Amino acid sequence: MRSRSFLEYRNFLYLKLSLLLMIAAIAAYILHSPAIGGYGGTWLGYVLGTLSAAIVCLLLWLGVRKRSYFGAGTMQGWLSAHVYLGLSLIVLATLHSSFQFGWNVHTLAYVLMMAVILSGFYGLYAYFRFPHLLTENLSEDSFESLLQEISKLDKLARVSALHLPDEIIALTNNAIYNTRIGGTVREQMRSQHLDCPTTLAVKKLHGLSKTLPMAQIKTHRELYTLMLRRETLVARARRDVMLRARLSGWLFVHVPLSLALLAALIAHVTAIFFYW
Ligand code: HEM
Ligand code: HEM
Repeated sequence: MRSRSFLEYRNFLYLKLSLLLMIAAIAAYILHSPAIGGYGGTWLGYVLGTLSAAIVCLLLWLGVRKRSYFGAGTMQGWLSAHVYLGLSLIVLATLHSSFQFGWNVHTLAYVLMMAVILSGFYGLYAYFRFPHLLTENLSEDSFESLLQEISKLDKLARVSALHLPDEIIALTNNAIYNTRIGGTVREQMRSQHLDCPTTLAVKKLHGLSKTLPMAQIKTHRELYTLMLRRETLVARARRDVMLRARLSGWLFVHVPLSLALLAALIAHVTAIFFYW
């Protein structure tokens, strides 16, 4: 799992570089005040626009760099640059546009860029928060070992249920065969399933204990304990799925939005030179 150190890469080199870029852009914007007011078509507008577009291309390149063992720099350095230069775009692209927004492809590029940056911040939060929670949830186990333990419990539960009334056998089988771990994207994102058959079995078994003859009480208690343990293991396995989905799921927003940004940017620049 990634440590916090990439943010501190080379003594905050990229944070310093980004701050420098932002301060220089703000100073130039204040000093440079054309008679017609600031807009993307002044020399400063072109400089800031070109710089912003170059940074976007560099950030997009992370997707390629991530998948190749060769190439300049370490992944830590690339990610550090990605985060801080991504941040600087908020200032550079906003000053480039001179706060002139409307219902057009230029503003679409800007909105998409902001959405990518926002999703990036969520990703950063996920990278620091979820790996720690994943370890805490699994402790010494792995996802596979949880499933194996559930399967062992199921064998024992099936044997115990055989000595109990049909209603209990049905509840047990329902828990064993119909409990889902994972499933649809929505189910993966939530660790609690409201209609979980294992939870239902635990609840109903508890109530049914009073209706049983003395001879079946001991077996019922054994089955109840097995189902309680099953419920705990299922909850941990679901939590693992949820945390892993949240750790990587945001990239399904970040990456398509990045590609949409690239398309809007190409349209923006093409439109500018077409109407020039
Ligand atoms: C991340 C990159 C960029 C973003 C988010 C962006 C966004 C914008 C926005 C929102 C505007 C204001 C549009 C309006 O006045 O309604 C604008 C204007 C402009 N942009 Fe960009 N831009 C980017 C890159 C570029 C590049 C690379 C160039 C050209 C080399 C460029 C050239 C211009 C020009 C000439 C204008 C003035 C258009 C006008 O007012 O008629 N931009 N840009
Ligand atoms: C316009 C701005 C941005 C663009 C175009 C962009 C684009 C990308 C791309 C293409 C990837 C590679 C994903 C993959 O292939 O798996 C990526 C990953 C990532 N981005 Fe961004 N990004 C931007 C801004 C940001 C910002 C501002 C942050 C943080 C504040 C951020 C955080 C991340 C993180 C944490 C990853 C995952 C890296 C990894 O899995 O190793 N991004 N981004």
